[in-house]
Amino acid sequence: MKCAFCQPGGYAKLTEKHLHDSFCAMSQQMYSLRMRASRYEKHISGAERLLCFSELEDAASRMLARALDHPRGQAKKIKLSLLPVTPSTIKSGPLLDLSTLRVDNWQEGRQRACALLVATGVAPGVADQALEQLAKGPALDGGVMRGAMLVNAITGERLESDRVRGVRVSRMDIDPSKRLNIETFLEQKSLHNSRIIEAWILASKVAFYPEIIAELCWSDDPDYVTGYVASAHNGYQRITHLKQAGDEIGGRIFFLRPGVDLDPLVEQLQYEPILFGPPASGCF
Ligand code: COA
Ligand code: AMP
Repeated sequence: MKCAFCQPGGYAKLTEKHLHDSFCAMSQQMYSLRMRASRYEKHISGAERLLCFSELEDAASRMLARALDHPRGQAKKIKLSLLPVTPSTIKSGPLLDLSTLRVDNWQEGRQRACALLVATGVAPGVADQALEQLAKGPALDGGVMRGAMLVNAITGERLESDRVRGVRVSRMDIDPSKRLNIETFLEQKSLHNSRIIEAWILASKVAFYPEIIAELCWSDDPDYVTGYVASAHNGYQRITHLKQAGDEIGGRIFFLRPGVDLDPLVEQLQYEPILFGPPASGCF
């Protein structure tokens, strides 16, 4: 089936774009578009989208621009990958409620993060230990990992099979037919930037799985000090300071209920495609 709005000439009006996007999500082949920029062994930046064909060119060129200009330095290699994703395999879910906790410094931020984790059911000692592990570098050599740590929320046991790679969440985006609403909301809150949107989507995918109680994240980008605690219960709670500016250590921890069957969960986190709409509460 062909979409009339995919023809040359672009979108005449926002309402037409809106219709076009709905049409794409319902009926068209979707694509997983991913970008990875690196310099020798060093990861510089990554990004990914779940899009229909007509959106690919614009998204790819934005990714390229981003790969070419990153605070972690110049990339030597930029890889763009494109894979088809059959619409009937794509699940849908709500974004988490979004809130921002303003704190004066990273010490206060970490205390608040710890309390938020405990409020979701993570054992207090486990929350403390997790913050410590992330701060000193969660990989075996004390550096950053390539994905997230998996931690038993009650015993603190590390569960990922590879403690350098961890688990990377993939195949998620905002439902094209809902994008306009969500972007307008973020613009009104002065939160419309790719980093916030991508982290919000990723956190919403993680919270989609009931096996995961909560997530803790702060970036390894030296100039980005905001992090978050996220959970299905309390939403995506941004915390304005979780580390010192200039620090290149960051990471993600997914806190799991005890007794989870790991293999299917990891498979879903990595490969199950999901498109997200506005939060279930109806208010952002
Ligand atoms: N950090 C470090 N190395 C990475 C990496 C990352 N984030 N992503 C990929 N690599 C390297 C690894 O060496 C990897 O091999 P591995 O699987 O043994 O770890 C290799 O590249 C190939 O990885 P693969 O997953 O096949 O790459 P991909 O082409 O599917 O791209 C990305 C993956 C880059 C798109 C994904 O990792 C990413 O960064 N997505 C963006 C996620 C996002 O939105 N995050 C929100 C941040 S706020
Ligand atoms: P970033 O927010 O991109 O700076 O990433 C912070 C940390 O999160 C990285 O150091 C990785 O350990 C981890 N990470 C990055 N991308 C993913 C992903 N797609 N899934 C899980 N963990 C990730």
